[in-house]
Amino acid sequence: MIILKTNNELKLMREANRIAAIILSEIEGKIKPGVSTYELDKWAEDRILSLNAKPGFKGYHSGSRIYPATLCTSINHEVVHGIPTKERLLREGDIIGVDVGVIYKGYYGDGAYTYAVGKVSPEVEDLMKTCKGALDVGIKQAKKGNRVTDISIAIDKYVRPRGYEIVRDLTGHGIGRDLHEEPQILNYNDGKKGQKLKVNMTLAIEPMITNGTYKVRTLNDNWTVVTDDGSLSAHYEHTVAITGNGPEILTRL
Ligand code: MF3
Ligand code: CO
Repeated sequence: MIILKTNNELKLMREANRIAAIILSEIEGKIKPGVSTYELDKWAEDRILSLNAKPGFKGYHSGSRIYPATLCTSINHEVVHGIPTKERLLREGDIIGVDVGVIYKGYYGDGAYTYAVGKVSPEVEDLMKTCKGALDVGIKQAKKGNRVTDISIAIDKYVRPRGYEIVRDLTGHGIGRDLHEEPQILNYNDGKKGQKLKVNMTLAIEPMITNGTYKVRTLNDNWTVVTDDGSLSAHYEHTVAITGNGPEILTRL
């Protein structure tokens, strides 16, 4: 069942997601060669606490796994769920996906952005631009009367002609009191017809694309998802509410 939010719940979700957006905006200036992903994580945790919220991923249970950090920091061929460590230093030319979750008054905020570390090649810039564009076309479909799968189809149609593959093993999701609620939002067209979208649904839309294969695997740390062929991956995520006037992006300043 897809949980519709009351207008008061939407207010709380706006605040939770605004805090996620603050983290993604402020962290940009900290992404430089030589910085460890642990330093980014520590900064993000302190900053979220200073905004009267709590990290949403730290301690999050997924089956028998518990996520240990505030951020997911996924570098180059890492798609999502990279765990920050003191040993992992950013290098010139890397790309890093930063995913942040927060809880504010019982409601989740969730957003992600892929940043270049220093200068990257035009090819890598195009990968990032295409993933961001895919998120934008997906969000445009998040309106009442459409179906969940209209989001999936729009992303698929945008990405594939541009020569990239779409990761299939991970999806977007409904969000609210739980980080992951119904519906699942595929980033590709599986040919099925999804549920109708209604006003006051809240969705986290998050395409993940690669410049190689769509196939991914999980490392021995049980979290880090990498491309099977070592190709590069980008990931962007916004949480949006469906309003009477179309999609409202909640992960914004
Ligand atoms: N944005 C991701 C998601 O919605 C991050 C989850 S990390 C986890 O699935 F640790 F919380 F699982
Ligand atoms: Co998410």
